[in-house]
Amino acid sequence: MRTRSSAALLAAVALLTLLGAGIPAPPVVNAAAAAGAAALPYQDPSLPVATRVDDLLGRMSLDEKIGQMTQAERASVTPAEITSYRLGSVLSGGGSAPTPNNATSWADMYDRFQNAALATPLGIPMIYGSDAVHGHNNVVGATIFPHNIGLGATRDPELVRRIGRATAEEVAGTGVDWTFAPCLCVARNDRWGRTYESFGEVPALVSSMTTVIDGFQGESLGGPASVLATAKHYLGDGGTTNGTDQGDTRLSEAELRAVHLPPFAEAVRRNVGSVMISYSSWNGQKLHGHDYLINGVLKSELGFDGFVVSDWNGIDQLDGAAGFTAAEVRQAVNAGIDMVMAPTGWRQFIGHLRAEVQAGRVSQARIDDANRRILTKKFELGLFERPLADRSYTSTVGSAAHRALARQAVSQSQVLLKNDGNILPLATANNRIFVAGRSADNIGYASGGWTISWQGGSGAITPGTTILQGIRNAVASSSTVTYSANGSGIDGSYRAAIAVIGETPYAEGRGDRPSGMGLDPTDLATLDRLRASGVPVVVVLVSGRPLEITAQLPDWRALLAAWLPGTEGGGVADVLFGVRPPTGRLPVSWMSSASQQPVNDGDGKAPLFPYGFGLGYAGSPPATPPPPTTPPTAPPTTPPSTPAAAACQVGYAVTEWSGGFSANITIRNTGTSAVAGWTLGFTFPSSGQRVAQGWSARWTQSGTAVTATNESWNANLAPGASVGIGFTGSHSGSNPAPTGFTLNGQPCTGDA
Ligand code: GLC
Repeated sequence: MRTRSSAALLAAVALLTLLGAGIPAPPVVNAAAAAGAAALPYQDPSLPVATRVDDLLGRMSLDEKIGQMTQAERASVTPAEITSYRLGSVLSGGGSAPTPNNATSWADMYDRFQNAALATPLGIPMIYGSDAVHGHNNVVGATIFPHNIGLGATRDPELVRRIGRATAEEVAGTGVDWTFAPCLCVARNDRWGRTYESFGEVPALVSSMTTVIDGFQGESLGGPASVLATAKHYLGDGGTTNGTDQGDTRLSEAELRAVHLPPFAEAVRRNVGSVMISYSSWNGQKLHGHDYLINGVLKSELGFDGFVVSDWNGIDQLDGAAGFTAAEVRQAVNAGIDMVMAPTGWRQFIGHLRAEVQAGRVSQARIDDANRRILTKKFELGLFERPLADRSYTSTVGSAAHRALARQAVSQSQVLLKNDGNILPLATANNRIFVAGRSADNIGYASGGWTISWQGGSGAITPGTTILQGIRNAVASSSTVTYSANGSGIDGSYRAAIAVIGETPYAEGRGDRPSGMGLDPTDLATLDRLRASGVPVVVVLVSGRPLEITAQLPDWRALLAAWLPGTEGGGVADVLFGVRPPTGRLPVSWMSSASQQPVNDGDGKAPLFPYGFGLGYAGSPPATPPPPTTPPTAPPTTPPSTPAAAACQVGYAVTEWSGGFSANITIRNTGTSAVAGWTLGFTFPSSGQRVAQGWSARWTQSGTAVTATNESWNANLAPGASVGIGFTGSHSGSNPAPTGFTLNGQPCTGDA
């Protein structure tokens, strides 16, 4: 049954006429409300979300439900088509922006699409997604933060949460409701073109940075500048053979669960609103059609209650042929994909899915489940009550406060790998500094891919401070800074030469490095000129990953890994001149040669610089050594400083599978005081039960006694708070639940 009033129809027709003329339409709430009809239950914000969803679902036709599952790209759909096809979502692909590309223009564009969605009979608002992966990076003028690999080097989850919050304000100010971030990829082979989108090679490090989800979504969905986050790309995108983008991750289930699943389990624990499926395969089976990993592990085992979105035309790849078919639509939707990103082929998708439902090959229950998930997030976001752009945040785009935060993140992400003779920090006064390198005065190079355009660009692509400008700003008037991109003109009168070199921008597969991983010939020529002058050389490497530098390193007095810092190059200068000491630590192992790839923490190989390595400045505290990431073989001999007594509840959920089992454990602090550091203990009833590999804690086992000690990032448990940890394990026959759970020596009770 559906309510439809003539006034609403007239309002819709008038609106479409306006939109056709490209005139920003006046805000329309929704047709029924505009018609003054009494609010229907789904329109009543005082009702529970589940009640509103049930009421709305009961009013929706099959076409309206299929429309909610359809996401079109902004350049391939008109507002009128959103209304007529009842589309539920629009996205901006990488670099897809209105003209002019500025925050206000984005907000106007967003409102045009949204008003078209509200002009439908049920007035269901659309949700707009964009890749805000290091700031609102599709928008000119936005603050561009360091890419994730640099944020992983900071080892600072709170900083990353603050970056998520700042990004959410800029995103909300342009109307966009949903970011396709964070990438929770665990980059295991640096040949992969998306290594820089990863926080690092160790699952615990990546898990620790899921705080960015709290930043994006806020205290709760629907709060101020709350933006839906996306955990992507599920599952194993960073583990493909040879680091081939969209390739095949060939791992046992135990390894897949131990290395790639923990960050998603943590994201689910943080109530991430959506999960995006990976293009990659697991042991030859495409994730976009993987019923066991999506329906089984993600939705059932981990209890993910948000919605699953495909990647860009990802379902097209299921049968290996171009274009997508009804069979691919059926497989993907039945595997658990709730919304399909069909940028240009969204009409075909709608036709295929309708036919599959009518033929009974996709059940109505599956359609309703997908809609329930999508609509629940739309209600929780407050889109029904506040559907249009929140222009009170538009002025935050590129604000001084956000740029200051980005500059702090840049300086904290710098990793000092060499500093012979303590040449760094450089003096700011009475100095003669020669700066060279094509990455020194180039915002585009410093920002990398996913910046203004999909692949990134060169030059002043968006407002910001280049590294050279940062250096010039840092020195006193008594100093001289000379710049020559290729190093020509240097002579012995300079006291130091700073070579800012590295990679030119790339995104996704275009960044794969299947063969050599050395420096670019242009940079090598620049370095040769500097070396010939005899002036001490300080190298600042602007790259999305480690590069092979072993042969050149002896000629360098110092090496600073700057990663892809973004628009606030002043943060690099802050470290070069000692305004802030270097505190960053490698988020990935630094190969000694490309032939070492993959090289990862604990694999027994000898990298040039190990995971976690980072120097400090003489006199300032060195970067503290990272906590051990491979569980110590013997239980710690001396327990941590007398831990606070703790009252606790523990939840223990096991999933058996062919090669063993995995256990997800929830520890809740039921005491009245906070716990700052914890060790969970328990006993396996059977001697055949073994912990194989754990996550989100440091695991030991001695006989049947098991301990799990906090990571640095989850050490604190406020009263009532909980933490999720887990492990993959094996057993010989029986697998009874452990007994004798204790937290800091105090018995735990019941289910968390
Ligand atoms: C891309 C990427 C994904 C991104 C999506 C939308 O192909 O794989 O990370 O979110 O398309 O731009």
